[in-house]
Amino acid sequence: MEPRRQFIVGLAAIVAAAAMAACGNSDSLTVPDDGTGASGATGGDYSAPAAAPSAADDTPPPGVDDNAAKVYFVQNVYPALMVTCGSCHVAPGNNGAPAWLSSASASDAYTMIEARGYINLTSSLLLKKGAHEGPALTPDETNGITQWLTLEMQVRGNATPANLLAKLGDCLDKTKFDTIALDKLRTTPRTNENTDRCTGCNKAYCQTCHEQGEYTMYSNDGTLGTSTFDALASNMTSSDGTFLIEKYITTNGTTLVPSTAISDKSAVTQTGPAYSHPMFLVDDTMKAAILDFANDAITKYNAKSCGQ
Ligand code: HEC
Ligand code: HEC
Repeated sequence: MEPRRQFIVGLAAIVAAAAMAACGNSDSLTVPDDGTGASGATGGDYSAPAAAPSAADDTPPPGVDDNAAKVYFVQNVYPALMVTCGSCHVAPGNNGAPAWLSSASASDAYTMIEARGYINLTSSLLLKKGAHEGPALTPDETNGITQWLTLEMQVRGNATPANLLAKLGDCLDKTKFDTIALDKLRTTPRTNENTDRCTGCNKAYCQTCHEQGEYTMYSNDGTLGTSTFDALASNMTSSDGTFLIEKYITTNGTTLVPSTAISDKSAVTQTGPAYSHPMFLVDDTMKAAILDFANDAITKYNAKSCGQ
C-alpha cells in the first residue's frame, strides 16, 4: 500500500526515511530537505513583485454586496503572500506549483484563490498546507488569513462556497462524467525519470494515489470502493476537507463556475521537476468534456431544477 505514495521523495537518499515519516500525512510527502530545517523557513524570501492597486480591488465578487472581506485580503493578506509564496505560486506557476497568485492584480489573485477552493474557514488548504517545497505561513500570515476568512464567512452568509458546493450532488450527469474518461487517463514518464525507480510515473492510473480522495483529488473506477461518479454525486469531501466536486465546479462569490483544477495540474506537471507529481496530459477533448459536465450541472442548479 505505501510505496505508491513515495514519488516525490524519490530524490535518492531520503527515500526510506521520508516515506516512513510521510505515512498518513500528505504534507510531509513533499518536503525534500531545502536546508532550512524541517519546519520550513521563516524569513525566507520567495518574493514576486506585488501588483499596483487597481479599481477592481474594491469590487466584491459576484453576488456579494459587502466588500469588507475582499478589501481586507487585498490590503493585509495579498502583500504578505506575495513575499512568502510568490516565487512559486504566481501565475503560471513555477517548479510544479499550482498558480493562485498574480503580479498583475490583487483582484486576480483573489479570484484564483477562490477558484482553488481556499475560501473556507474550517478547511482552507492555505492554512493547512504547512511546510512543503515552500515554507509554512508565518504566525502573522496565519492570523491575517484567519481574520480574512472569518470576514468572508460573514459577508457571504449562507452562500459560502461550502454551502453552494454541498448541494450539487443531484445536479451531476453520469453520461457527461463518463465522457471525461478520467479512469482512462495515465501518467507519462518524464525523460529525466527512471521508470524502474519512480512511483506512479510510468503509465499509472490516477487511482494509484487518489482512490480515496487523497490530496483533494478523487479517482476510482469503482471495482473496489466508491466510484468517482458516486463519490461526486454523494457530495463527498476529501480527507483534506474540501468537496471533491471542486475539481470540476467551484465558485466566484456566490456564482458557480467551472473549475480548471485538473487541467491546471496537468499543465504544471509538464514543467515540474523529475519525481515531482507524475506528469499527465489533459488534452483539448478532455478539457471540453470536463467543461461540458460542469456547465450542465451549473445550468441545472441555476434553473433550480436540482441542488435545492
Ligand atoms: C519554492 C516553491 C514554493 C513556495 C515558495 C511555496 N510553495 Fe506551495 N507549493 C509548491 C509546490 C511545488 C506545490 C505542489 C506540490 C505540493 O502540493 O506539495 C505546492 C503546493 C501548495 C499547495 C497545495 C495546492 C493544492 O491546491 O493542492 C498549497 C495550499 C500551497 N502550496 C501553499 C503555499 C503557501 C501558503 C506558500 C507561502 C507561505 C507556499 N505554498 C510557498 C511550491 C512552493
Ligand atoms: C504516485 C502518486 C500519484 C499519482 C499516480 C497521481 N497523483 Fe495526483 N497527487 C499526488 C500527490 C502526492 C498530490 C499532492 C501533492 C501535489 O500536488 O503534487 C497530488 C495532487 C493532485 C491534484 C491536486 C493538487 C492540485 O494542484 O490541484 C490533482 C488535481 C491531481 N493530483 C491529479 C492527478 C491525476 C489526474 C492523476 C492521474 C493522471 C494523478 N494525479 C496521479 C499523487 C499522485
